[in-house]
Amino acid sequence: MNKIKVMSVFGTRPEAIKMAPLVLELKRRAEIESLCCVTAQHREMLDSVLDTFGIKADFDLNIMQQGQTVSDITARALKGLEEVFLSEKPDLILVHGDTTTAFSGALAAFYSQIGVGHVEAGLRTYDKYSPFPEEMNRKLIGSLADLHFCPTENNAKNLEKEGICKGVFITGNTVIDAMKYTVAKEKRFTDETLNSLDFSRKRIVLMTCHRRENYGEPMESIFRAVRRLAEAFPDTEFVYPVHPSPAVRDTAYRILGGSESVRLVQPLETSEMHCLMSRCHMVMTDSGGLQEEAPALGKPVLVLRRETERPEAVDAGTVKLAGVDEDEIFSLAEELLTSRESYERMARAVNPYGDGRACQRIADAILWSFGVLPSKPADFRP
Ligand code: UD1
Ligand code: UDP
Repeated sequence: MNKIKVMSVFGTRPEAIKMAPLVLELKRRAEIESLCCVTAQHREMLDSVLDTFGIKADFDLNIMQQGQTVSDITARALKGLEEVFLSEKPDLILVHGDTTTAFSGALAAFYSQIGVGHVEAGLRTYDKYSPFPEEMNRKLIGSLADLHFCPTENNAKNLEKEGICKGVFITGNTVIDAMKYTVAKEKRFTDETLNSLDFSRKRIVLMTCHRRENYGEPMESIFRAVRRLAEAFPDTEFVYPVHPSPAVRDTAYRILGGSESVRLVQPLETSEMHCLMSRCHMVMTDSGGLQEEAPALGKPVLVLRRETERPEAVDAGTVKLAGVDEDEIFSLAEELLTSRESYERMARAVNPYGDGRACQRIADAILWSFGVLPSKPADFRP
């Protein structure tokens, strides 16, 4: 029997973390020939994840440029991917989430008339410009895809509202699968600043901030709130692995650089990040992935955005939307740092996003769609 040729396409850190366990699962399936093509929309942050999971890309388009625009990424990825697809002729390509690499991958596959599987399908805010450009990327990918792997039932319902009912599977999020490889209770950090943190005497707040729609005033307002919190709570330290985007770095170092209790560090290798997260007091972030990981580790999350496409953990009570207003962020964080009751209410491990078997379900769904397995995999239920 000819093997089904499945090519996974990704380019940024979060896609790599969430696609890595799937790439490893597909390699274990005898009926599948699994290939991996990276755009390298991110360079260092992608390579770090590939190293962590021991994955070697079969194709590397190496497209990253400093300070790239969304159009730069789209144009370079689209052209490079088309060439790879035409020469390799995969039976199915897989893209992940809502990045510009994912959108370009789905579009290039459509132009080459190759089927598309969308991992992490169906997330929506219904606000075209927030997150930007991710909300539109994922809607467009939804229109182009043939197979839709939704993390939750709510995501599948979002697709149904858009008339997408065929080829929809509820699988759980592969990030929970990834954490099985990376979460360790104790780990020596590469950065000595982190090894010098005294977790028994100080509360550690882990923060990240990088979204394009937060560039400029919203990001400045977020950082001013953090600077005030660091001054108001001397028993608390803030650790911020700063995203390498110049728009983020310049603002972070300008506003937070002089603050003694704010540790600005380089992006962390994923298992170091997960170790730090499991030992921290709480998380403040505008990241999508952190909103899924921190609840699984029982850490309260303040989301530094006006809206979220991940309402499940908000409903479960472990994530709160803090917005981007300085005073609002300050007062929500202040409450968590002063009221034990408020903190305990949020610090419960909940796992609405997966059970660690999403990759297994996705691989089974692919085999079922190609007529290899006789029955559709059962949906993930939390
Ligand atoms: C991208 C995704 C976003 C995702 C984020 C995860 C798009 C449009 N955005 O945004 O959805 O949340 O990744 O982090 O797809 N850089 C480096 N080295 C790296 C990575 C980035 O130097 O390893 C710098 C470069 O100057 C690059 C800039 O960061 O131009 C921005 O990277 P880009 O991928 O364009 O945007 P992100 O904000 O990372
Ligand atoms: N992450 C990491 N090192 C860091 C910051 C984040 O490994 O210094 C991981 C994080 O644990 C999560 C993913 O990167 O798995 C989230 O990526 P990011 O916040 O860049 O993108 P988003 O999820 O917002 O698209």
